[in-house]
Amino acid sequence: MIKKCWNTIKTKSVEGEILKKSPSNIALIKYWGKQKNKIQIPLNSSISYSLGGIYTVTKLIFYPRKEKKQSIRVFYSGKEKISFIPKILEFFKRISYYCSYLKHFNFIINTYNTFPHSSGLASSASSMSALALCIMEIEKKFKITINKNFFFKKASFLARLGSGSACRSVYSGLVVWGYHKSIIGSNNLYAIPYPYKIHRIFKNIRNTILIIDDKPKYVSSSDGHKFMLKNPYYKERIKCANKNMDRMIYLLNTGNFKAFGELIEYEALNLHAMMMTSNPYFLCMRPSTLKVLYKVWQFRKLSKNNVFFTLDAGANIHLLYPNKERKDIIKWIHSDLLYNCKKIINSYCK
Ligand code: DP6
Repeated sequence: MIKKCWNTIKTKSVEGEILKKSPSNIALIKYWGKQKNKIQIPLNSSISYSLGGIYTVTKLIFYPRKEKKQSIRVFYSGKEKISFIPKILEFFKRISYYCSYLKHFNFIINTYNTFPHSSGLASSASSMSALALCIMEIEKKFKITINKNFFFKKASFLARLGSGSACRSVYSGLVVWGYHKSIIGSNNLYAIPYPYKIHRIFKNIRNTILIIDDKPKYVSSSDGHKFMLKNPYYKERIKCANKNMDRMIYLLNTGNFKAFGELIEYEALNLHAMMMTSNPYFLCMRPSTLKVLYKVWQFRKLSKNNVFFTLDAGANIHLLYPNKERKDIIKWIHSDLLYNCKKIINSYCK
């Protein structure tokens, strides 16, 4: 549905700069594993919350290219980052077929995150999404007939080619990526806003991120996805993720927060079980991760508060809880969990 176009566009005189921001997201049903020999097509559908207050801001400067070689420079928090170039070049290469106008320009990408640098929080989702949105703004300059729907669909499509989870960061709220038989409009090429009823209890959720480890991961998500293909539980994982998505749809509709919380914990542990059983195997949790998970279960049992965890592909923990219970929960985080963490970042599910 997204066709190659723009070859005939006259771009010589165009130049300018575009500023976009895009949030980070946390998956509730996880994307883990890509289909073999396909570019950025997930094994199963995923759903995430876009996060409030944790985002990337990107300024994309573009000007006509006169030289044979295209120039792309990247600055992160004001400092030039040559190490970011290969990923950006790969991204531009992947999207060149869909955005052929890009070859007429040189680019300067200026970017920063609102979350602390080296916090162990992945920024590829928010940064690739912000860059894809900038690129769509360039496209809009040439084709003023682009409507909002197409703009975001294609931005999500492009962001996916940069980083899978980035395609969900194009939207706020609950966002689905990957085909699922029960979700109308869901597909593997781009994300869509969750199309069904969401009970009000899920509209005001807090997310406290406990940074257990702020070092770069020793196995990247991209490698982790690859290792899935040699996981003996590969097929079972796909079945399980699909079943979990059906249950998620039911719970989002009916508003059972406890069952929702148990489902996201189950998914998080499923994800980490896949890492431990992949070939090669690996483990992202740290001793402090486990300590905190046990504490969450213990506190929930004693206090009856609705605080549940999910994990990204690292050692860090996201605690999700209803806004109305925040007082008790924040007090407990500060008294019981703080010394297990390097940092705490407060966010919310938008
Ligand atoms: C565990 O989107 O970072 O966070 O597509 O290779 O860039 P690439 O991987 P990435 O993987 C995210 C994995 C996850 C689960 C999720 O966000 O759904």
